Formats: sequence, C-alpha cells, structure tokens
Amino acid sequence: MEAKIEKLDNLGRGITYINNKICFVNNALPNEIVEIKLEQEHKKYIEATLVEIKEESPFRIIEECPYSNICGGCQLNHLCYNEENRYKRNKIKSLLYKYANIEEDKVDHIKYEDRNYYRNKITLHGKDGKLGLYGKKSKDIIPIQECILVNNKINETIKWLSMNNINITEAIIKTSNDESELMVSIKGEVSRVDELKRKCNVLIINGEYLSKDKRIETTISNNKYEESINSFFQVNKTLTESLYDEVKNTIKDNNINTALDLYCGTGTITIYISDYCNKIIGIDNNPSNIKDANINKQLNNKENIEFICDNVENKIDKFKEIDLIVIDPPRSGLDKKTREYLRIIKPKIIIYVSCDPLTLSRDLNELKTDYNIIKVKPFNMFPRTYHCESIVVLERK
Ligand SMILES: C[S@@+](CC[C@H](N)C(=O)[O-])C[C@H]1O[C@@H](n2cnc3c(N)ncnc32)[C@H](O)[C@@H]1O
Repeated sequence: MEAKIEKLDNLGRGITYINNKICFVNNALPNEIVEIKLEQEHKKYIEATLVEIKEESPFRIIEECPYSNICGGCQLNHLCYNEENRYKRNKIKSLLYKYANIEEDKVDHIKYEDRNYYRNKITLHGKDGKLGLYGKKSKDIIPIQECILVNNKINETIKWLSMNNINITEAIIKTSNDESELMVSIKGEVSRVDELKRKCNVLIINGEYLSKDKRIETTISNNKYEESINSFFQVNKTLTESLYDEVKNTIKDNNINTALDLYCGTGTITIYISDYCNKIIGIDNNPSNIKDANINKQLNNKENIEFICDNVENKIDKFKEIDLIVIDPPRSGLDKKTREYLRIIKPKIIIYVSCDPLTLSRDLNELKTDYNIIKVKPFNMFPRTYHCESIVVLERK
C-alpha cells in the first residue's frame, strides 16, 4: 500500500494515517511517498514496515553504519545531521508547548558536536558465541565488529573481544574522555586474559578486579573525575563540558549561599559549580556514584561539598533556605513528592537538566505556577538516536 509520511514521532518513526488511524513506519522521513506493509493493527495505532521509497526526502542520506536497521541502537541513521538537530529542537519546542504551554521562542538553538564516535561507553551482550548489540525489535544478538557511536579505543576493544570471545555474556567497555584510560568488565569467558590486562587500566572479570586500579579518570575543564564500572558518567565525550558550562554560566553571578545538586551521579556538576556556592549538597541513590563523588571531592580539593547517598524523595523534605537547586533526574523525571517540595523550598533558581522532554514538560507544567521559565537550551548529546537533552533555567516569580 502507498502512503505519504507526514512527520516524525517522538521516537523518530515516520507517521502516516490509514483510514484516520495513526500508522508508524520505521525508517521513513517526512514528505516521502513510500510503499508500506501493514504489520500489526492495535486499538489506537498501526505498525507498518517500509517496503520501498517511491519519492525520497532531500534530507535522506546513505546509512554509513553496516548494522543500521538491524541493531536497536540508532533510529536516525538515514536523516542528515542538520535535520536531526532541527527535529530534536522542534520536538522539545512542541512538547513544552503542548504539555506546559511554554512559548516556542524560549527554546534556544541546539548545541551539537560530532555525529560519530562520540560515546565513551558501550555495553555488549553475548550468547552462543555471538557478541554484539540487541536487535531492533528483539533481544537477538547482532554481532558487531565496531559501532559508529563509540570512540576508537572502544572500537579496537570490541574487535579484540570478538576475536577472543569464548563465552562472553556481557562486556562493559568505558574510556576516559581523552581515550587515554580503558576500563573493561566481562561476564563469562575470554581468552588471552594477560594480553587484555596489559591493554586495560581497569579489568574486571566476573566481578573480580585483575588490575590494581578500580577507576579511570577524566578531566572536564579544570576538574578531575574518577568513575567506577557501576557509576554513572555522561557518555558524550565532548559535549558534556558545554552542558556543564551552561549550568555554571547561568549561576556564576548569583550570590548563592546553599545549593542542592539532586541526582548528582559522581558529583560532576556539584564540583563544577562549587566555587560559586558557599555550600553545596549532592544527593544520589547509587552507592557507587557517591563513593566516587567523595573521591572526586578530595581529588579537586573541595571542602564546601557534602554528598548524601539516598533517594532524593527521602531527603528532599529536610531542606530549607536553599538558593539554588540543580536537578538532573533519570528519564522518568521528578516524582510527585520532589515536585511538591521544590515548590515548598522555593529556591531562587532551579536548573533542570533533562534527558526526556516529555517528563520535563510534565514537571515544568507544575513548576511554572511559581517559576518563570527563563531559557530552554537543547543539547544533542546522543546523535543518531531520537534522545535529546536540554537545560531549563527557572527563576522564582
Ligand atoms: C542523568 S543521571 C545524572 C548524573 C549527573 N548529574 C551527571 O551529570 O553525571 C541521573 C542520576 O540519578 C540517580 N537516581 C535515579 N533515581 C534516583 C532517586 N530516586 N534518588 C536519587 N538519585 C537517583 C542515578 O543514580 C543517576 O546517577
């Protein structure tokens, strides 16, 4: 059946309508005339696959990745980078307008850098001698020799592991942002362990450390950060500095006595902005993050920082007289209690770092009763995927 694609949905799929019912077509672009095959009809929507492109979008590009459309990692390999960036900015604009009535002119230009080889981390899965990434629609393993998203050092390691794979079920590979340090954690069996040990700064096999070091170190601006295998660290090796600079530049001229950094990970933002606050408290519920955060506090000689390991929602009601709150929650956004207490604590400034514009819109819709939305700055932290990050600056009314 022939169809015209109208636009992209929030997951990067083409949208068309069949008898007034919405139909999602993977890998199709706006204004393309395509031949589709209906796969599944649900109560409210239809899923179809792309059979042939009859009229192609001028923004369609040749997919460089050999695993495009089989691997589940990227959704926008076929869209040129300018359009990808435009799509993400528009997605943020329209979600914020639709669910929080935030005017589109509040949304600034999108900040982006390299489209390829930007990630400092990958998790590979293995089964029956195959080592790779999960497929688009299933947990079938697509064996890979390299990934266009990750840096060179990780790609070299992927190749090495696939040649020496005996029975790896999971491999996490991380590097420092400058690629000088490598950390590998393997579950299962691998050959030539001594050779792998020489390549790695940190090597963990089935939970056992074979290296003296347990952490790798990355420098962002003037700050040094250590991270362990189970700690959170921003994956974009170049754009993270711009993201943190945006937070720093927003707050640096304010007279901040006490600040909170909620969902602080390994304390990266906490440390980045600590010189502009008399005191700052970071909270995260992952013990590995907080252990690293305390190491990072020492490493950067910071004395005005306290880290707490707990759920934000367990601690948020303990604070008052806070001037600034930075929040960087997971994709689920803020829970009800945290939203409620932000409005009770009423800091002068809230900086909301979000990796999901949908939950961001829900949360801003509540916060905007007491706060003016000053600025929304999108960042393309995850090129080739539909994911997008943004920083929102809120000032108390
Ligand atoms: C997007 S990361 C933010 C990390 C940090 N701001 C950075 O730039 O590296 C979200 C963090 O929230 C933490 N987290 C998730 N749910 C939480 C909760 N309910 N309470 C506290 N921390 C939580 C995770 O451990 C993770 O480190």
